[in-house]
Amino acid sequence: MFQDLVLSGMRPTGAMHLGHYHGALKNWLTLQNEFPCLFFAADWHALTTHYEDPSVIEQTVWDMFVDWLAVGIDPTKATLFIQSRVPQHAELTVLLSFFAPLAWLERVPTYKDLVERHAEQGRDILTYGFLGYPLMQAADILIYRANRVPVGEDQVSHIELTREIARRFNHLFGREKGFEEKAEAAVKKMGPKKAKLYRALRAKFQEQGDQAALGQAQELVNDVQNLSLGDKERLYGYIEGGGRMILVEPEALLTETPKLLGLDGQKMSKSSGNAIMLRESPEDVAHKIRTMQTDPARVRRTDPGNPEKCPVWNLHLVYSDANTKEWVMQGCTTAGIGCLECKQPVIDAINAELRPIREHAAQYEEDPTLVRNIIQDGCEKASDLATDTMRDVREAMGLNYG
Ligand code: TRP
Ligand code: SF4
Repeated sequence: MFQDLVLSGMRPTGAMHLGHYHGALKNWLTLQNEFPCLFFAADWHALTTHYEDPSVIEQTVWDMFVDWLAVGIDPTKATLFIQSRVPQHAELTVLLSFFAPLAWLERVPTYKDLVERHAEQGRDILTYGFLGYPLMQAADILIYRANRVPVGEDQVSHIELTREIARRFNHLFGREKGFEEKAEAAVKKMGPKKAKLYRALRAKFQEQGDQAALGQAQELVNDVQNLSLGDKERLYGYIEGGGRMILVEPEALLTETPKLLGLDGQKMSKSSGNAIMLRESPEDVAHKIRTMQTDPARVRRTDPGNPEKCPVWNLHLVYSDANTKEWVMQGCTTAGIGCLECKQPVIDAINAELRPIREHAAQYEEDPTLVRNIIQDGCEKASDLATDTMRDVREAMGLNYG
């Protein structure tokens, strides 16, 4: 515990496209080589908005995993699982709901926005469950004591809520009887050298608010081998005062990659019809790009254009090297090149990017049980981790009676 752990989830509401690849999956690929990672299909989160049409979830969940595997998410490095197959997430959501202030949920900025947006699409999500969406997300994260959560900008307020919930939990339930004595006893168990260093760092943090000292003390606790989980929680909490630190406040890892925009220059999404899917055929990719809108000023081949007003340019920004971009700039503004000519390097680059993904996907498409087994395995691993946290949570909330 208190080890670095990355966790992220996606709602299985549609097949994966290039926007997911550049906006999230590429980042996951880097992370899986740096940290233990948990990646999951948030099927309950999908149900909060799609409860009237749940078949979408079944249709997309397996495709989603095939896409993850096809881009190179490696089940020997990362644990892949399905939220609803680890029902402890639901138990923690309920337990958190008892002390999660209603006002915290109502003021999450995505809430009113999404209610409106879904209403426009004929979905009524003025439900108890949807109000609890970010709380369930908090449970997803806290149940693994994950400290790093890669998400997009739109999810930052959910991570902030998660931090507040963790803090409130520790404040309410980390205060056991005799905490000070138990914490002091745990300090002694560290051995004289480490205990001395711990005390010094704790004092430095408490007296001078020294954040670096806080970090060093946490690391020190992290590295101690012979302590029980409960004692580690005490030592963690004791640095800052309070009580045991049972749940861990996570940090958002913002994905800073320039977002890949859709064929119309808007955010890429399947429902907007502006997406290129990860397993799109080379012919379809070529067709979609050839029929893309360009700068409306270029009515005829001889009319000069401005790449800044053209969605094809967005793709060049992601896919083309400096020379090609220069060639586009020059050629477009002087009517030196035609739009079809301009699009060809993008078609080639996207198809080159997708080729290995398609090939890799084929092996999983041919063998669906392979995917089922990988996920089954991941669900079991996730469940084991969740069980450890839930034992502490139940105990702290007084549910451990005989
Ligand atoms: N709400 C996230 C989204 O829409 C999906 C999600 C659910 C998630 N639980 C999570 C992401 C936990 C990160 C961590 O994208
Ligand atoms: Fe767009 Fe390229 Fe045509 Fe210019 S030449 S309008 S950048 S497609």
